[in-house]
Amino acid sequence: MTQRTLVLLKPDAVRRGLIGEIIGRIERKAGWTIPALELRTLDQETLEAHYGEHKGKPFYEPLMGFMAGGPIVALVVEGERVIEGVRQLAGPTDPIAAAPGSIRGDFGTITRENLIHASDSEESAERELKLFFPAL
Ligand code: CMP
Repeated sequence: MTQRTLVLLKPDAVRRGLIGEIIGRIERKAGWTIPALELRTLDQETLEAHYGEHKGKPFYEPLMGFMAGGPIVALVVEGERVIEGVRQLAGPTDPIAAAPGSIRGDFGTITRENLIHASDSEESAERELKLFFPAL
């Protein structure tokens, strides 16, 4: 089943020079491609739309500050079962709980600064792709 998903390399990944490492892992999956990719700093409006479901949670404000605090890389990943597959490569939200071998497990320690976002369902992917790459 060919799908598209939205991936964000968060400001910690960009600041720490991990763009190549993380994209390399995605590129090496058989048949997956990256039809769009952009380095950008997120504005408040995009961030609020992207993280609307978390508004009011204790981690929301620090998360918004962190995500606006430096450039991110937004990319579209296309291929066989990419929605589940990229989340598998990323590992769970808490990097300490993430297994070694996963992106968060290998490089992360802090739940907020967990390096990568990946859409969690077909519905989220559709919504997030429209938000970040409306022309696609
Ligand atoms: P992600 O799953 O991509 O989207 C929501 C983000 O909020 C999550 O990654 C973390 O960056 C952050 N987050 C989620 N839960 C917590 C938490 N308990 N403490 C701090 N940050 C969190």
